[in-house]
Amino acid sequence: MKEIQKGIYRDGELIFTEAASDQKVYGENFIQENGREFRRWEASRSKIGAAVQNGVELGIKEDDEVLYLGAASGTTVSHVSDIVNQGSVFAVEYSETVARDLVEVAESRENIAPVIADARNPEEYEEVLKPVDVVFQDISQKDQAEILMKNCRKYLRDSGKAMIAIKAQSVSSSRRPEEVFDEIKEKLNDMFEIQQETLLDPYETDHLFLVMSPR
Ligand SMILES: C[S@@+](CC[C@H](N)C(=O)[O-])C[C@H]1O[C@@H](n2cnc3c(N)ncnc32)[C@H](O)[C@@H]1O
Repeated sequence: MKEIQKGIYRDGELIFTEAASDQKVYGENFIQENGREFRRWEASRSKIGAAVQNGVELGIKEDDEVLYLGAASGTTVSHVSDIVNQGSVFAVEYSETVARDLVEVAESRENIAPVIADARNPEEYEEVLKPVDVVFQDISQKDQAEILMKNCRKYLRDSGKAMIAIKAQSVSSSRRPEEVFDEIKEKLNDMFEIQQETLLDPYETDHLFLVMSPR
């Protein structure tokens, strides 16, 4: 097992994080090596995992504070929680049904704070949130760029970074994905400098992943 980025490991074609809990979150395999336990990170089940497999350097540090928008049942949140083992993840999800699983994942870990709220209204969670080092957004909505920007304006440190997984189909099902990506990048360009970008094929079709820093 070789560490390829802070807190992310590779064994052959597969990637892993070091397990902060022995709870299985989505049926993933565990591997023991030299007294340590690693959880397989399935890139086809996680857009950040797919981005890592496609060469993106996340640059997330072990003591980072992360605001994660669109946490769903906590699949990817659990891997981010493994990476930031001395920091924390504020995991925002607005569907109470989906968030039940997220709350269960958070119960077996010390550094996940589930936030049941609408990410379109970042003031809804200002009492629980402090400034963060990373904002990641995986909300497949037409206004996903605006949601990210609103949250970054309120919570992202100047030295921090923003990441987004853009799903072309959610923005427009009739226009070409490239056209949609260009439009979203132009919006984001007002606030961010785009540092890395990659398509998420073959794990996700017509998804673009961006890593950005605030201007
Ligand atoms: C594509 S899924 C996220 C998958 C998750 N990031 C993972 O990798 O495990 C998008 C999630 O965003 C949530 N969502 C959509 N609009 C939202 C909003 N305005 N505020 C908070 N969550 C939202 C949906 O309920 C859904 O669970």
